[in-house]
Amino acid sequence: MANAINLHEFELMAREKLDKMVYDYYAGGANDEVTLTENRAAFARLRLRPRMLRGVEKYDMTTTILGEKMAAPLLIAPMAFMALAHPEGELAVARATAARGIHYVVSTMSNYGLEDIAAASAAAKWFQLYVYQSRTATEQMVALAEAAGYSALVLTVDTPVLGRREADIRNRFHLPPGYEAKNLANAQLQHIHPAQGDSGLAAYAASAQRANLGWHDLDWLRGLTKMPLLVKGILRGDDAKRALDHGAAGMIVSNHGGRQLDTAITGIEALPEVVAAVGGSAAVLMDGGVRRGTDILKALALGAQGVLLGRPVLWGLAVDGEVGVGQVLDLLLAEFELALALCGCASLAEVTPDVLWR
Ligand code: GLV
Repeated sequence: MANAINLHEFELMAREKLDKMVYDYYAGGANDEVTLTENRAAFARLRLRPRMLRGVEKYDMTTTILGEKMAAPLLIAPMAFMALAHPEGELAVARATAARGIHYVVSTMSNYGLEDIAAASAAAKWFQLYVYQSRTATEQMVALAEAAGYSALVLTVDTPVLGRREADIRNRFHLPPGYEAKNLANAQLQHIHPAQGDSGLAAYAASAQRANLGWHDLDWLRGLTKMPLLVKGILRGDDAKRALDHGAAGMIVSNHGGRQLDTAITGIEALPEVVAAVGGSAAVLMDGGVRRGTDILKALALGAQGVLLGRPVLWGLAVDGEVGVGQVLDLLLAEFELALALCGCASLAEVTPDVLWR
C-alpha cells in the first residue's frame, strides 16, 4: 500500500516513477495551462454552508444514473494509454472499479482492447468514442463495444483537433514500441509515431480522426447502437439543448482536463447553465479538477448527478497498479462520505443548492 493520504500525494509519487514523456502527457494541459489550473481553483473558490445537528449516523452515497446503479456518484473518466503507467493498464483499472461498484468509461485510445478490458472484471463500463475518418473503423468499434457489454456510448465532442500541449510537442510524444491503441482493427491506426516538430498524438489525430463532426452525426451514431449516447465536452446551455434535440441521453460538462482550449470555462463553472438548459430531461455529469470529497459534493449541489475522476486514477495506477487505483478511489470516497457527514447530508438527495454559499 502506498504511503499517501490524499490524491495530491499520489501525483508526487507517480511523478517519481514515470518516464518524463509519460508524466508530462498525463499531467499537462494546453498552452499556458490556465484552464488546467482553474479546474482546481474554481472548486476551491466555492464555499460550503454545512447543516448542524441532523441526527444522522449513516450516509448513503449510492445513486442511479441512466438507470444504472452506482456505489457513488463517481465514475472513472476516459483516459488514453494506461499501459504507459503500469503493465496491466486498463485491466487493473477495470478490476479496481469492479471491486467498488464504480463505473469505468473506457477510452477509444486504450492500450488493451475493449473486449479484454470487458473480460477483465465484472465492472460496469461505458465506452468513449473518437470518430475516425474511416467509417468502418468507427462502426466496428461501436459494434464491438455493444457486443462486449458496454452499456453507454460517450462521444467526445471537444476534440475536432487536438489542443496544443507544449510539453508533448517538446517531448515528441508517441507510443514506444510494444504499445498500441488496440481498439483500431486497422493495424496502421494502432501506432502513434513520433512526429517531426510535433506531438505524435496531435499528428495522429489530425491524420486519422474526423475533424468535421456536426450535430447530425449524433443521429448517425444513435442509429448504430442501442446504447444510450452521452456527449462529453459540453460547456454551454445552447449546446446542451442541441444535444438533447439530437437524442443524447446525457452529457458530460467538461473542458477535457484543460487539455483542449486554454482559457475555456471550467466544468464546475459551466455546470449551472447546462443543468438549467437540460431541466432534468437528461443525465448531467461533470469532470475536471476533482481531487477532494468536497469537490463531488459541490458538483452535486450545482445539479450534477455525478462526477468523473481523471488523472488521479493514472497516479494510483503508476504507483501500485490495481491496488493503487483502489487506494485512490477509497481515499476519495472516504473524503466524500466525510463531506456528507460534515455538511449534514444523509444521502445525495440532501445535497441541495443551499449547501453552497453565494
Ligand atoms: C486524449 O484524449 C488526450 O486528451 O490526450
